[in-house]
Amino acid sequence: MDTRSAGLRTDKYTRFVSAGFGKDLAARLGLPQPAILRRYAPDAPLLTGPVLVEGSSAGAEALAARLLEWNLDVRRHAAPKTRLGAIILVLDELGHPEDLSEPVRSVGASLRDLTPCARVVTISRPAGPGLEPAVAAARHGVDGMLRSMAKELRNGATANGIVLDDGVGITAPSVLGALRFFLSGRSAFVDGQFLTVSSGHGDLPKDWARPLAGKVAVVTGAARGIGAAIARTLSRDGAGVVVVDIPAAGDHLAAVANEVRGTALQLDITGHDAGERILAHAAQRYGRLDIVVHNAGITRDKLLANMDAARWDSVIGVNISAQLRMNRAFLASDLFRNHPRIVSVASTSGIAGNRGQTNYAASKAGVIGMVGATAGLLKPFGGTINAVAPGFIETEMTAGIPFAIREVARRLNSLQQGGKPEDVAETIAFLAGSSAGGLNGNVLRVCGQNLVGQ
Ligand code: NAI
Repeated sequence: MDTRSAGLRTDKYTRFVSAGFGKDLAARLGLPQPAILRRYAPDAPLLTGPVLVEGSSAGAEALAARLLEWNLDVRRHAAPKTRLGAIILVLDELGHPEDLSEPVRSVGASLRDLTPCARVVTISRPAGPGLEPAVAAARHGVDGMLRSMAKELRNGATANGIVLDDGVGITAPSVLGALRFFLSGRSAFVDGQFLTVSSGHGDLPKDWARPLAGKVAVVTGAARGIGAAIARTLSRDGAGVVVVDIPAAGDHLAAVANEVRGTALQLDITGHDAGERILAHAAQRYGRLDIVVHNAGITRDKLLANMDAARWDSVIGVNISAQLRMNRAFLASDLFRNHPRIVSVASTSGIAGNRGQTNYAASKAGVIGMVGATAGLLKPFGGTINAVAPGFIETEMTAGIPFAIREVARRLNSLQQGGKPEDVAETIAFLAGSSAGGLNGNVLRVCGQNLVGQ
């Protein structure tokens, strides 16, 4: 990893405490010491050291064999003094909470041997209804163990989990896709989270550096911030991109469109025919539409006691009503029938709530509800819908927060820093790709394991 260029994109405090005098001072004063995170670059290696596959099931053996195809240095046993790039803990045959003891403690013994920005990934089964209570206890135990382990890791390392619905095999395309996402720098700011693979659908791309080649995507709110980063990332991954924003942001929108060699569509998404206009643009320019990213969003914060109708209604209107209306148009269109993908941007405020944001949290929790209810509607076309819920991301939206509150907000997570727009964008690009075809109805937080909520 080029830490110099990564450092340029990191906040000043993080750079100060990463080396020399600043590092010593922060250690002596007990101040947060955020690591410079390992972020994705198409030519960077997937991992920074060997991967240990821990677990004695047939699934663990099958997975270890598949990982060799990615040219990884795969180990089945920890060796003393070996620095590990990742540990994959396969827990797919748990029958009782006591079964966790040996494999989890074995992983614990290797945690001090992790390289900076290493990865721990668990693979387990869901604790749904109808299970033996002991089996459900064991399976749900993974949840608490993983989230706690993630809080103990240091040096930019993260821990995340993949949950395989019963009937999904451990080498199903989206299990491998999710695993690769979690191992890679694409998931730099995703920590303490789970993805559920609900079907064996999906395909692994021929070229992992251009997984969206041949696809056409539309991104709303793409003139700046997270939306612009999403457009750049989807384009880098091979997609043709339509960028959408309000006419007042036209100049910035045109600049983004030029940069990604895409096309710009000036459009207020609250318009009653916004979905139809996007479809018409995609049909005329590309003859297809594969991916929709609902990113445009606004905040109009006020304590509820002072909330006026304009603030409430505008936030609901942009952040959720527009998505619902556009989705109706997309779902009714023949253009959007071939394994379509929708990814919606929610927020951790919509999960944990936030003072002064009843309107925003209602809209973002609404996105999460909408995603859950729309998943089934896309199934007949082999389509999926998922949401990402960003935590504190460094953008113009959060730059407006007063300094002291901003500084506290960006440190209150396991990685002790704010995320980058690219972190949200990489997650969305993964969910939009064919290797995520078995993930439908997930809400994935991109929040560095923000202490607010979960
Ligand atoms: P931003 O304010 O920098 O960009 C939002 C873009 O959406 C702007 O270009 C704006 O013109 C566009 N937009 C607003 N209303 C529109 C409309 N009616 N029609 C078309 N475009 C419209 O915001 P940022 O930070 O990039 O956020 C992007 C998304 O991420 C939003 O949905 C936001 O709620 C969400 N988010 C952001 C977080 C952060 O920390 N920045 C945290 C959690 C969620």
